[in-house]
Amino acid sequence: MTARSGTAADDFAPRLLGWYDRAARVLPWRVPPGSAATPDPYRVWMAEVMLQQTTVAAVAGYFERFTARWPTVADLAAAADADVMAAWAGLGYYARARNLLACARAIVAEHGGHFPDSETGLRALPGVGDYTAAAVAAIAFGRPAVVVDANIERVIARHRLIETPLPAAKREIKAALAPLVPTDRPGDFAQALMDLGATICTPRSPACAICPLMADCRARGRADIERLPVKPPKKAKPQRYGIAHWIEREGRVWLVRRPGKGMLGGMRALPGGEWTGAPPVESGVARVDHGFTHFDLRLTLVRGEMPVQGPDAAAEGEWWPLSALDAAGLPTLYRKLIDRLRETDG
Ligand code: ADE
Repeated sequence: MTARSGTAADDFAPRLLGWYDRAARVLPWRVPPGSAATPDPYRVWMAEVMLQQTTVAAVAGYFERFTARWPTVADLAAAADADVMAAWAGLGYYARARNLLACARAIVAEHGGHFPDSETGLRALPGVGDYTAAAVAAIAFGRPAVVVDANIERVIARHRLIETPLPAAKREIKAALAPLVPTDRPGDFAQALMDLGATICTPRSPACAICPLMADCRARGRADIERLPVKPPKKAKPQRYGIAHWIEREGRVWLVRRPGKGMLGGMRALPGGEWTGAPPVESGVARVDHGFTHFDLRLTLVRGEMPVQGPDAAAEGEWWPLSALDAAGLPTLYRKLIDRLRETDG
């Protein structure tokens, strides 16, 4: 075994893996616990990119649709940008979709269609950060990488009673986890911690009584266990405002594509100007409040005419049939706004 003898860490991995062997969630990018088969790196990578900032439940349908439509990395690399962006609509953090495509194309163009099998090799790919490189190296290639996502952060911060607030706590969590990673099943080990965090060591009301790591968990029984990991103080988000135009003609609506870089980059959208700090003068026909990571946006929908000047006049756009609006791949923000319009229109 990999754990050092004579420490509380001795049987951390066996206890965790023993639990995982019985309780692992069945997920479409996984192989069963302890399986001799290795999972498809393409599916593992796709899942890890989709799962950032999101839950397994939110990702499941997207994962199925993406892998059915583009079963291999070469299929994805050959896809049209617009198709991939539209398929991603609703999942949020759209830079991930642009990076997904860039990465697939780099793998085909520079790596003969095969994923690099080391953490360093993976980290060099477009859009692959420390977390994704470690997760894919461990899960798809059996490398003893130290994988830390939000679930794992919570499990380790509690088990070790790490009181340092995030994000500074990350280093301590990684240092505490590194000596526990077993060389024989690093992928199962990482996913076992993820499952434990998602099902037992939950943010609220953790089920400590049935936790396989209970015996030496330093936070067990503490009334304030939910406080761990300690979060950084919440910053007030700036408020921004924007206008979206609803321009309808003969059963079609005018949609544009947002510029490739920036918020909702490369996504189809309703036309509208910049988002600014100044509230619009128009009261509009519908309104929606949407929280982005770094600011809150209030978007007001205004019925409009085709702009003859200004940035929208030059924007690439198309008359999209209203009967097929669901297939346009509009981000959630615009879908919510259109739903509001329909409510007020009756
Ligand atoms: N969250 C992020 N990656 C995951 C994985 N591989 N399994 C379950 N949950 C996850």
